[in-house]
Amino acid sequence: MDFGLKGKRALVLGASRGLGAASVILLAEEGADVIAASRSGALPAGLPDSLKDRVSVIKLDLSDAGSVSDVIAFLGETPVDILVNNCGGPAAGPAKGQSVEAWIAAFNAMATPIFAITDKALEAMTDKGWGRVVTIGSSGIVSPIPNLALSNGVRGAIAGWSKTLASEVAASGITVNMVLPGRIATDRLAELDAGKAKKSGQSVEEVKAASRATIPAARYGKPEEFGAVVTFLCSEQASFITGSMIRVDGGMIKGM
Ligand SMILES: NC(=O)c1ccc[n+]([C@@H]2O[C@H](COP(=O)([O-])OP(=O)(O)OC[C@H]3O[C@@H](n4cnc5c(N)ncnc54)[C@H](OP(=O)(O)O)[C@@H]3O)[C@@H](O)[C@H]2O)c1
Repeated sequence: MDFGLKGKRALVLGASRGLGAASVILLAEEGADVIAASRSGALPAGLPDSLKDRVSVIKLDLSDAGSVSDVIAFLGETPVDILVNNCGGPAAGPAKGQSVEAWIAAFNAMATPIFAITDKALEAMTDKGWGRVVTIGSSGIVSPIPNLALSNGVRGAIAGWSKTLASEVAASGITVNMVLPGRIATDRLAELDAGKAKKSGQSVEEVKAASRATIPAARYGKPEEFGAVVTFLCSEQASFITGSMIRVDGGMIKGM
């Protein structure tokens, strides 16, 4: 199937590794020219040599207002057809006792920069009458994850923004969707599992086995399985899907 992405320009945030990197690779495989943004400005991990001429990099620190302004200025000169919003995950911790400063910092690193970058990208998409905005969220939006209060809370706000925006731009040929990872085997998940093991005194393998036991598919997802869904939502074929949240979780989320 031709996804109609040849010649489209995409910007993927948080793209040096993990889910962002996988999204870059799958979009580039479908013929899109992809700009990969991250703090390091590194090429996406695992990018095959054959796709390197289709991928460029820029530096972006979503928690730094100046860096976000630079990327907004960049979008003024280099408009994109596709925007994949992604960010680093905030620190783990409970809701009770979480400081106001921590909430503000998480909101300013995850939510407001994405809102501002998307607003800029929408200008060119609206002019063209075609655009795709896909925001990477978390299963915690549907089923809050214990001890990840900042992530659950801020991503809930991002979900409300994405759904509201979808209705505002749908008639301009722009779709706005979210993809919710359950447990996808990235470096971040490996770090979280290692942290849990240290805290609980279990081995990392015991932590992983307990985690896998909560997933009907009985395994972690692969980053490329996630990137494929992001890429489909960016395709021509997905033109009537908007305001949706698609789960990529092997059936982990219990609610309907
Ligand atoms: N993997 C999962 O199963 C899972 C499940 C639920 C939710 N999520 C969420 O999905 C997102 C991606 O997950 P992941 O597993 O791919 O994480 P990851 O492996 O830690 O990758 C995060 C990416 O974001 C970049 N990044 C981090 N902080 C940034 C910042 N301040 N500004 C710009 N870029 C930044 C990192 O690159 P640099 O260090 O070079 O900036 C990296 O490329 C995270 O928000 C995570 O919490 C993941």
